[in-house]
Amino acid sequence: MVEISIKRSIDDLDIFEGLFVVGLDENNKDLNYLSKNTKLMDILNRHKVIQEEHLENIRKFGKNMILSLNDGDKLLKILLLGIGDGKKLNEDKLRQLGGIISLRAKELNFPNVIISNFYSSSSQIESIIEGLVLSLYEFNKFKEDKADKTLSTFYVNYSVVIVTTDDSNDGNKIDIGKIVNICEAVFYARDLANSPPNVIDPNALANSAKTLEKMKNIHVDILNQNQIKDLGMNGIISVGKGSENEPKLIIVEYNNSTSTDKPIVLVGKAVTFDTGGISIKPSDRMDEMKFDKSGGCTVLGIMKALGNLDLPINVVAIIPAVENMPSGSSYRPGDIIRMYNGKTVEVLNTDAEGRLILADALAYGVAKYAPKCILDFATLTGACIIALGTNIAGIIGNDNKLINKLVSISNITGEKIWQLPLSEEFSDLIKSNVATIKNIGGRTGGTITAAAFLSYFVSDVPWAHFDIAGTAWTQDGTADKSYNPKGSTGFGIRTIIKFLEQYQYK
Ligand code: BES
Ligand code: MG
Ligand code: ZN
Repeated sequence: MVEISIKRSIDDLDIFEGLFVVGLDENNKDLNYLSKNTKLMDILNRHKVIQEEHLENIRKFGKNMILSLNDGDKLLKILLLGIGDGKKLNEDKLRQLGGIISLRAKELNFPNVIISNFYSSSSQIESIIEGLVLSLYEFNKFKEDKADKTLSTFYVNYSVVIVTTDDSNDGNKIDIGKIVNICEAVFYARDLANSPPNVIDPNALANSAKTLEKMKNIHVDILNQNQIKDLGMNGIISVGKGSENEPKLIIVEYNNSTSTDKPIVLVGKAVTFDTGGISIKPSDRMDEMKFDKSGGCTVLGIMKALGNLDLPINVVAIIPAVENMPSGSSYRPGDIIRMYNGKTVEVLNTDAEGRLILADALAYGVAKYAPKCILDFATLTGACIIALGTNIAGIIGNDNKLINKLVSISNITGEKIWQLPLSEEFSDLIKSNVATIKNIGGRTGGTITAAAFLSYFVSDVPWAHFDIAGTAWTQDGTADKSYNPKGSTGFGIRTIIKFLEQYQYK
């Protein structure tokens, strides 16, 4: 399995043993930390590697170059890596640099890597480790010659030594195993979200969730269509009606605190395929609607990471899983649905299905668990992509303290989120003449009307809704980041794990 270690000294390293990474700063041309290893410095000088005219162009952020030097009977392999302006290096840039290192090493099939220090704090080293691991994800399962292989042999045999000679950070405090565990939970979520809709239907998603039960402190319950109906969750039932694949309600509990300690509830939209239903979508890029289960996959990824962590909290994940299909048994525009919490909804567009299934799941979470807070994740609106693009997710809720905390964590994890206002005018836009509310509110402010709809189902529990329509997978406009290979990103998992780690336990 991938092996990453941290060393406090550069002198006793066998520099011939791996790909030696040297970070080059645009402004600081001083490589004196390398001079601590006299053998290395000697070779670099003899081969005239450290001559500025060679290095100038590589100092820009992300630029890089491989050098192979024959030194006697040995080969020294060096990756010169531009870090841009060293003073402007933040966690996300380091995560990207970590990813570039892994991708170059993989391309050259050099499974041993030594990284010398262009970083200082432990949080910077943690980010490099995340980048090293996250970038190596491949979705190969369905290629003809790659049946059953999830992780490449390169990943499995990969070994990296990170050298940190800077005394201001304590490499010992970094829990490498924990970071790798979280990255592998991201891989799990990416695998589920990338899987095609004929493979991951609601039942298959539920079966995958069930496998988490072998983990510590985890319990999984799957509710079938009849049980969902008996509970009165007609939002989920209605959306699922048009499909041959019946809906499931997936409930995953992580209990590692006292039974009286109220949980944090996480809700994730899992529409395993969204055709739009009777209000059918245009066929162009409809295939991408396999990613409409991404919110649910993120939440399952969080639960998988928790299963390997010892956090003194209780967490409940609620994932409504449905397929939104047009057929003789589909729900229709004009239908009026009585939801789990008794509110009624006039359906005016069957493509606004996410809010219907989330509403039942949120109301159930609030009623059954009286949670400390409730967070939901959903590829909910195309309007969010228009508003914020494909690199920033929207966050909306009823508790600014909760939202500010999440936003500040996301600045470290690089999973950018931006708050949109839940002002009351939007609730008026979804009032219905024949029911409590309707499921669309016109073309304007679509992300906020969707959130306003959800707000009818959370009572006064502190709540934050993540609209991840633009960030759940790489699409038009997505910034090229080494640690996010094409397809599902697993957006949100790393942020929420940090949030849960920092939760005030009282
Ligand atoms: N799953 C879609 C939202 C979506 C669209 C996410 C494109 C990512 C990319 C959602 O179910 C949907 O269809 N929303 C409609 C709502 C509208 C009918 C009010 C939309 O955004 O067009
Ligand atoms: Mg839809
Ligand atoms: Zn949808």
